[in-house]
Amino acid sequence: MNFENSSAVLLAGDSLELLKQIPDHSISLVLTDPPYHTTKKKNITNDTAFESDEDFLTWLDLYSNEWYRILRPNGSIYVYCSSAMAARIEILLMKRFNVLAHIVWTKPNDPGFDGWKQKMKKESLRQWYDHSERIIFAEPSYEGNLNKSSFGNFLKNVRLTSNISGHQLTELIGAYGKVNHGGSVHNWEAGRNIPSRDQYKKICEAILTFGIIKEMPPYEDVIRPFEVNSMVEFTDVWNFCSVRPYDGKHPAEKPIDMLEHSILSTTYEGDIVLDCFAGSG
Ligand SMILES: C[S@@+](CC[C@H](N)C(=O)[O-])C[C@H]1O[C@@H](n2cnc3c(N)ncnc32)[C@H](O)[C@@H]1O
Repeated sequence: MNFENSSAVLLAGDSLELLKQIPDHSISLVLTDPPYHTTKKKNITNDTAFESDEDFLTWLDLYSNEWYRILRPNGSIYVYCSSAMAARIEILLMKRFNVLAHIVWTKPNDPGFDGWKQKMKKESLRQWYDHSERIIFAEPSYEGNLNKSSFGNFLKNVRLTSNISGHQLTELIGAYGKVNHGGSVHNWEAGRNIPSRDQYKKICEAILTFGIIKEMPPYEDVIRPFEVNSMVEFTDVWNFCSVRPYDGKHPAEKPIDMLEHSILSTTYEGDIVLDCFAGSG
């Protein structure tokens, strides 16, 4: 059954097939929670469907290929995974994405609501008790090169098309680096950092003055959104309580405050967010 309202579309089906209908570079954020392939329980579709880890990773690679195709160049992706599979999923994603963080989601739940943590016999453990999950955060890589960014390439193209040297553009913007005179323009083109909104406005004014480039895209179309502050989780360790049991709860339901945190910090208002494994929806 499908559902649609003014802010969301929900489609029932095999998401690998449905993904193929999504146009290239049309999604700003992929925020998704695939089957973990680590549980023996049969209550989550595709958690026990793969005979081997390799089969699971081959399947996930098909998704990774689609995610890369549909994401905007300044988009972001979060992939939830178990700690057991995280390293291999991270390597798989690195074929097409720059992995920017390997977030550890800890679950500081009250006693009685923290799974087996309090109940089990600690002395019988044969490894560290697994009480966290991983969330891989990444951006689409530019031509598979970790040292390049799509914005850096875009800036270099418009600058060279306008016949402006890096020094000239730096002078026009007044954005000198602390170390070398080529300064910020050089760093932006190299993908080391990004201009502020104000600096980007000055870049646009400078480029348009030369008259060869007639139009510059808005900031939101070229710069990957990322906004945190000291009032929210800004490190790669996230403390969000799990969803407490209730009748009909999905076994892998993710807490809404954690999803809100991810979306608010890495999208612009009105952006399109995609989840291929909605579960509870
Ligand atoms: C880890 S759970 C996600 C739970 C979800 N984040 C939530 O908060 O409820 C993975 C979900 O993906 C679904 N799933 C597995 N294979 C799928 C496929 N090929 N297409 C669509 N959904 C699939 C499973 O049914 C399960 O609900």
